[in-house]
Amino acid sequence: KMPILEQCYNLMDFEAVAKNIMKKTAWAYYSSGADDEITMRENHSAFHKIWFRPRILQNVKDIDFSTSMLGTKVDMPFYVTATALGKLGNPEGEVVLTRGARKHNIIQMIPTLASCSFDEIRDAAEEGQTQWLQLYVNSDRNITKRIVEHAEKRGCKGLFITVDAPQLGRREKDMRSKFSDVGSNVQNSGGDSVDRSQGAARAISSFIDPSLSWDDLPWFRSITSMPIVLKGVQRVEDVVRAIESRCVQGVVLSNHGGRQLDFARSGLEVLAEVMPVLRERGWQDRIEIFVDGGVRRATDIIKALCLGAKGVGIGRPFLYAMSAYGLAGVDRAMQLLKDEMEMNMRLIGCSSVDQLNPTMVDTRGLSMH
Ligand code: FNR
Repeated sequence: KMPILEQCYNLMDFEAVAKNIMKKTAWAYYSSGADDEITMRENHSAFHKIWFRPRILQNVKDIDFSTSMLGTKVDMPFYVTATALGKLGNPEGEVVLTRGARKHNIIQMIPTLASCSFDEIRDAAEEGQTQWLQLYVNSDRNITKRIVEHAEKRGCKGLFITVDAPQLGRREKDMRSKFSDVGSNVQNSGGDSVDRSQGAARAISSFIDPSLSWDDLPWFRSITSMPIVLKGVQRVEDVVRAIESRCVQGVVLSNHGGRQLDFARSGLEVLAEVMPVLRERGWQDRIEIFVDGGVRRATDIIKALCLGAKGVGIGRPFLYAMSAYGLAGVDRAMQLLKDEMEMNMRLIGCSSVDQLNPTMVDTRGLSMH
């Protein structure tokens, strides 16, 4: 029996419901990680290595956790990250997430491999509602150029180039479910030759260009004036290189939700590596640092912000909420995070996000030297 929506008290509750009611193939695609799923689990448990150092007597009557990301003012320091194939979970697809994001004034990242068309998702947004584009780079650069130019013309405010997927990871749960009906209008240069026996992910991704390199960044810079963000950065050297390229306004420290390289470190662990180096160079304001992977609680969000993240991305929980309860589920998931956020900001003694800094956390449990 399915619990009523009001019985979901946190983001994990939506996952449990979704697992019970979703089609097996859809659940396999959403929930799977690469290989032994060690990184996927680590994404979640990395947050358990950080503890708070709350302040007392700070007058926390009024809490404001609004902030800005890439120039957009948002009500909460998280965004809906790009996840492919929304119609596997809900017949209306990604536009459900668009409506939830609009209600809570947060940003949605539109995936290249959305089930809805880009224009459907853009049209579902309200005037002035900010959306970003997640880009898988096509071997045919003319196709990529058209996608980017169209997104900019339609008012997208950020271009997130996924850089952790030169080849799609091997997600065995997904492969076993023998995906036969991708059911989406995804771009695909493979046409009928696509091998659908390898799971949903592989079936739709054959167009992605594994030759993408740093040398391509000036070209991206030349075709768009949207801020460019590299999604899937995993070491401080690459953050430094991104800054030095002068082509990039942000990075997402991410391992693709544990769906690509197993034994990639969590974004949080990488953040702890990156920020001291940037601060030492005085470079912390030259780039916006985002983190995603395993964020399930407002305390997770707060921890990332304390370490120096500008915002965090959340993927699966909104997919599960949407699959289980549609827009009402997405709305409740976002509201739960908002309530958790308010309470926990108060409990650590911070009334705004600019008060979140490294002194608020004890990171000795991280495997940093
Ligand atoms: C993803 N992610 C992803 N990333 C990307 O750049 N392009 C994509 O098409 C997808 N598709 C996708 C599908 C599904 C089902 C999942 C779960 C994830 C990765 C996503 O943007 C993000 O990095 C992770 O989802 C964050 O981890 P959590 O919040 O899911 O733990």
